[in-house]
Order: sequence, then structure tokens, then C-alpha cells
Amino acid sequence: MNGRVLVVDDDASMCDLLEAGLGARGFPAVRATSAEFALSELETRDFDAVVTDLNMRGMNGLDLCARIVTNRPDVPVIVITAFGSMETAVGAIRVGAYDFITKPLEIDALALVLGRAVQHRVLREEVKRLRQVVDQSRRFDEIIGESTAMRRMFDLLDRIVDSEATVLLSGESGTGKEIVARAIHGRGRRKEGPFVAVNCAAVPETLLESELFGHSKGAFTDARQARRGLFAQADGGTLFLDEIGALPLALQPKLLRALQERRARPVGSDEEVAFDVRLIAATNRDLENAVEEGAFREDLYFRLNVIPIELPPLRARGNDVLLLAQHFVDRCAAQAGVRVVGLSSEAAERLLSYRWPGNVRELQNCIERAIALTRFERIAVEDLPEKLRTYRSLTFLPATDDPTELVPLDEIERRYVLRVMDAVGGNKTLASEVLGVDRKTLYRKLGRYARMQ
Ligand SMILES: Nc1ncnc2c1ncn2[C@@H]1O[C@H](COP(=O)(O)OP(=O)(O)OP(=O)(O)O)[C@@H](O)[C@H]1O
Ligand SMILES: [Mg+2]
Repeated sequence: MNGRVLVVDDDASMCDLLEAGLGARGFPAVRATSAEFALSELETRDFDAVVTDLNMRGMNGLDLCARIVTNRPDVPVIVITAFGSMETAVGAIRVGAYDFITKPLEIDALALVLGRAVQHRVLREEVKRLRQVVDQSRRFDEIIGESTAMRRMFDLLDRIVDSEATVLLSGESGTGKEIVARAIHGRGRRKEGPFVAVNCAAVPETLLESELFGHSKGAFTDARQARRGLFAQADGGTLFLDEIGALPLALQPKLLRALQERRARPVGSDEEVAFDVRLIAATNRDLENAVEEGAFREDLYFRLNVIPIELPPLRARGNDVLLLAQHFVDRCAAQAGVRVVGLSSEAAERLLSYRWPGNVRELQNCIERAIALTRFERIAVEDLPEKLRTYRSLTFLPATDDPTELVPLDEIERRYVLRVMDAVGGNKTLASEVLGVDRKTLYRKLGRYARMQ
């Protein structure tokens, strides 16, 4: 795997020697008789490596090397140093040369080093390319979703991970607020710092203040030791305040102040403690409503709602339901050490038409349970919880605005006919009356649907 080489030397006879010697060893070489000329050559043409002498009139080889390392870090530079001048050789490596070779020049040895350098470059480019592919296809790899609604959210996440602004996540329960909060932290500049999560609804009101801001020794009866609060623990990282809507009114001004000043006073202490924390808050209820009802301070709401991110309910994510289901099947089956490969088509259809009030968490539970129950390689309808088996969607229109997930008119008709059949307990006479078609037409349709299964 040889490549094109740029040889740089202000001595023309040396250039002749290098050109001929490298050419003979399968490295087509182009000469530049000054460092300046070499730089302009590098701007217009592509080379796989540069070989340069160190002592030249004008810009010397060391400066040339430094310039190439800055402007074209992908092109390896090999410097030729005088025999016995180890110091300059080390200097060259220090500015980023790939390797050095000493005079008197042995072309075979140079060709060997060049071969390695070119290979190194090719590998580096390949790694870079693969990494880009991976980054693009799995930007938020732990969060599964390909629906329009989720893609929109991924785009938004891409744009905000590096910002420091407060994020307010909202969404029904089980939509993935916590997993998104972790992903924002894990992708952003603070990823090396801690991620600290607290559920405001789970901590007794009387303890929440000291939980968040810490307390000094003896601040209250049980406070035998001073304790750092969660803000202090999250210093340099991210603090995730889950169910922020449950934050007691009395505590809200203190949080507001902490966010504004970036410092807060532990309970029972006279001194404020500074912290450097990015805040992500989450709520599964409508905070705006809470503001209107006076249960949540408007100023705090605005302070939190700098970057609002709304997580779509699962039922608005179209085929993501199946993608997630397959993901959970793979994971649970591996954990349980059983061989279950997926869902039967009938089971898949049930999952798609269900409303999922508990969203992704409910789906996850449903799959875990099915894996434990099933006797088949594909989860069957009978493995699904009762409410899914008996659930009949009242809406026939998929709750999505992704054109690729909308269904043909025929399919809507099929769903409606089956729904009516269900409602009338399978009585075809009644069903044909409701549908306004004669019985023969209904039979034909039902026969066709049966064959479609
Ligand atoms: N898009 C997704 N891809 C993969 N797993 C997901 C996704 N969304 C949620 N999950 C998983 O579903 C479960 C529930 O998610 P999470 O706890 O983040 O939801 P939540 O919105 O915080 O719920 P709650 O409001 O009940 O606290 C978790 O186990 C999470 O890993
Ligand atoms: Mg949660």
C-alpha cells in the first residue's frame, strides 16, 4: 500500500536521489525545493506523506513540520537529520513529526518508514470514518426511536448538549425523561462530572431542603453530622430534579435564588456554598397549569423552562413501539437465558394498537412478563397482559404525522370492520347493519382479512 510522497530539500541533487530511489521502490515522489513551495503544494494536491530535510534556506524543516502538523494533521511527516544530531531529531518528534531518519541516507530504510507512515494514515482515516458513521447512526444509542417525533427530539438534543442552560423535560410517566436527562449529561461537556438525581416527590417535605442544600451540624434534632447537599455533590456535573412539580412552595424561592446566584446556604449555616451545576428538571404534569393555580411560582418556572423538551407519548411514536419491543425482547431473553426471538405478527399488532398509558415503562414490563411466560420463540397474544388482549382501539387512525407510518385506506377499513365485529359480539347480521353493507359484502371482506393473517 504505497502512496504519493512530497520530498522537500533545497539541494536539487538530493531531490534527484530521493525521487529516483523512492520511485524505484514504488513511492511516486514529487519534489519541492523550499518549505514555502512544499506548503503551497500541500494546499493544492494530496500527498500520503512528506519527507523533509531539516536545514534549508528560508523556512527550515522543523517549522515546516510544525505547520503541516497544524494544517494537515492527517499527513505524516518524516524528517531527515544529520548523523549524530539526536537533539534535532527529538525536537522534530516533539513538534509532531511521524518519525526521523539520519544521514547518510539509506533509501531502503526510508522506504520502510514511509510504508509504515502511509499505512498508519490509512488506518487513521478509516477509524475516523467509522467513528463518524457510528456517531451519525446512533447519536443517542441508549435511546431507541426512529419516528419523526423522536428524530425531532434527537435533533434538539444534539443542539443543546453542550449548552449550560437549564432543561425542563416534560412528558407522561414512563416516556423516558430520566434516560434523556442521563443522555444529555453523558454527551455534554460535564460528562466526566457526577450525575446526581433526586425525585422531589419521594423526599419528605421537611427533609428536602437539607437534602438539596445540605445542613450544618446540629441544624436540627437529627443532624449530628454536617452533610453536603445534592447541589454540592453534583458540583462540576449535572443535577436532575425529577418531579419538580412536587417541590414545596416554601422551598421554591430558595431554589430560584440558588439557580440565579449559583450558591446556596446549607440549613443552619451562616455561610453560602458556591456550586457549578447544570440543572435538568422533569415533570409529568403540566407545570403551566400549576403556575396558574398558584402551586408553582411563575419566576421559578421561567428560570427552569429555558430549554423545554417535550417527550412524546409512546402512542404517538408509530412503529417505535415494535422497535422498542424488539429491543426489550433481545435484552430480557439474553438476561433470562431463554430463546425468544421476537413477536408473532398478531402480538405485534396488539402492541401497535394499544394506547400505552404507562408508555415505554409499561411496554418494558409487558415484554419482561411475556418472556417469562411464553412457551414459544415468538411472543404470542396469549403471553400479553389481559388488558392488551382485550383492548380494542377506539381510534383507527395512527397517532402519528410521519407519512411513512400512515396506513392505506384499506387498512383503516379492515380495522374498523373488525372493531365493529367485536362490538357486536361477532353477530354478522348486526355488523352489516352497522356498517351499512349487505351480509355478502361483509363475508367477502372478512374472508379476505382471514387470508391476510
Ligand atoms: N426511547 C427509549 N429507548 C430505550 N429505553 C427507554 C426509552 N424510553 C424509556 N426507556 C426505558 O423505559 C423506562 C422508563 O424510562 P424513564 O424512567 O426514563 O421514564 P420517566 O419519563 O422518567 O418515567 P416517570 O415519569 O415514571 O419517572 C426505563 O427503564 C428506560 O430505560
Ligand atoms: Mg422518572
